[in-house]
Formats: sequence, C-alpha cells, structure tokens
Amino acid sequence: MVAPVLKDDTFRHLRDFIHEKSGIYIPDTKKYLLENRLLRRLEEKKLKSYEDYLYLIKYSGNGDEIAGLFDVVTTNETYFFREPRQFDVFIGHVVPSIVSAGARGIRVWSAACSTGEEPYTIAILFNEHRETRLLRKEIIGSDISKGVLEAAKRSVYSSYAVRNVPEEYLKKYFRNSGNVYSLDPKIKTMVKFLNINLVDEKQVRTLRNLDVVFCRNVLIYFDDKNKRKAVSLIYDSLKPKGYLFIGMSESLHTVTRAFRPISINKTVVYQKV
Ligand SMILES: C[S@@+](CC[C@H](N)C(=O)[O-])C[C@H]1O[C@@H](n2cnc3c(N)ncnc32)[C@H](O)[C@@H]1O
Repeated sequence: MVAPVLKDDTFRHLRDFIHEKSGIYIPDTKKYLLENRLLRRLEEKKLKSYEDYLYLIKYSGNGDEIAGLFDVVTTNETYFFREPRQFDVFIGHVVPSIVSAGARGIRVWSAACSTGEEPYTIAILFNEHRETRLLRKEIIGSDISKGVLEAAKRSVYSSYAVRNVPEEYLKKYFRNSGNVYSLDPKIKTMVKFLNINLVDEKQVRTLRNLDVVFCRNVLIYFDDKNKRKAVSLIYDSLKPKGYLFIGMSESLHTVTRAFRPISINKTVVYQKV
C-alpha cells in the first residue's frame, strides 16, 4: 500500500485546528513531524488519508479523537530533577518564605507535568525536607495529554528518566528491576493528576489559591497570544505573592509584566505582585 502524503493545504488545516485547541503552533518547517506522528493515528483508525483524519477530528465522532491527537502532537520530554537549580531555589528559598509568612499548608501545581517526573520530584523533596512535615502539602500534576497522565499514574520509569536522581534517593524511593524503576507508593500517593489544557479558560479556572506553579518547557510550543493567555490564567490561579517557575531557557520578558522576577543563585523565579 502507498503511504499517505500530507498535502500542504491539509497540513495548514490540521495545524490551525491543533493551534486553536491546544495553543501549540507547528511551523511549516515541522510539517514532516506532524506527518510522521499522525501516520500512527491514521493506521490505528484504519484511515487512508490525512484528509479523512481531518474530517474525523473536525466533523465526526464525539470528540474522542481529539485526545488521541493531543497524545501524538505533544512533545513529552522530561526527567526527574530536571534543572536542579530551580528545585534548590524552590525547597531552599521559596518554601521557607511561604512557611515564614505563616502558612499552614502549601499547594503546588506542575502545570504540564508529562509523565509525572516533575511533580514526583517535588514530592521527594517534601519528603526529604523534614521542616515541611507540619505543613499540609498538596501537589497537583496536570497535562493536556491523557496518555502521559496514564503513564504518570503507573509511575514506572526507565533508567533514562531517573539518570539525574541522586544515588541515595534512587535507592530510597525506587524499586529497581532490570532497566525499570518503580516509584515508592508513598511518593506516588502525594500527587493528584488532572487533565488540564492550559489554554482552556474553563479548565484552568478550576484551580485556585496555589502557592507555587511550575510551568516549565511548555510555553515554548505556544505562539505569543497563547503564551499570554496561559500565563494570565496561571497568574489568576496563584495566591497573592505566589511563585511561578518557567523553564531555565524561557523568559516572561515579552509575555507579561504582571510578575516580579526574583533572581536567587542565578535562577529566576517569578512572583505574583
Ligand atoms: C516538554 S514537556 C515538559 C514536562 C515538564 N514540565 C518538564 O519541564 O520536564 C511539555 C508538556 O506540555 C504538555 N502540553 C502541551 N500543550 C499543552 C497545553 N495546551 N496544556 C497543557 N499541557 C500541554 C505536553 O503534553 C507535554 O507533556
């Protein structure tokens, strides 16, 4: 059978649809990526062309395929203790400043958590830092892709995902068999997972009164308009003086002035003013 070809016109329709629903903008130069990734969906759905797929997501079915589409168009690269300087600032400065302001609890949201490594890293840090033991701790991990959330709930990882975990934590919090690392159930139960699209106002508005949001390495996939939308919704979800971490290589400079950047040990954390 001849492999289907993604025509330019169909690509643009699909690109616009994905952009409208998820904020993710796929430039012309990444057409091949969409073509390759969607081929899997076409095969699974036994469709003969990309036009048939476009028709399916736009006009037929009950919207179920949109979840499948999100699963394949998202880039889910992540690992435990990614960008560790930010976690040092979180546990060494941000959490103590929340505690010293008299908080009895702390609510943290990992806003595009992929397969769970980010919120579970936060859970491990809470468990290690005994000074947080009297705090009520709530950790929420969310993502637009249901597929990665299923993997997050299974919490079984490859050696690649745990390569940055300090040796003593690896021994303490993972059961290793062969190349597979299963997370300690105690850490697992500390995180609640939700399916949230960061550019869907109704969904994001279900989260309120957060102390800290980690929104790392996701805004890079959005165009400026959707960056502004997502960041403004996150702003509203935070308590006054709440904190936001974005990726180390990202900046809010052209996105918003609503946060105050604070630099600690060469790491920037944004505070709601
Ligand atoms: C590269 S991963 C980053 C994971 C983690 N935050 C980290 O820094 O290691 C980006 C994640 O953003 C998610 N994502 C993309 N668009 C999204 C949207 N509109 N709403 C919520 N999550 C989204 C993807 O599914 C993917 O899991």
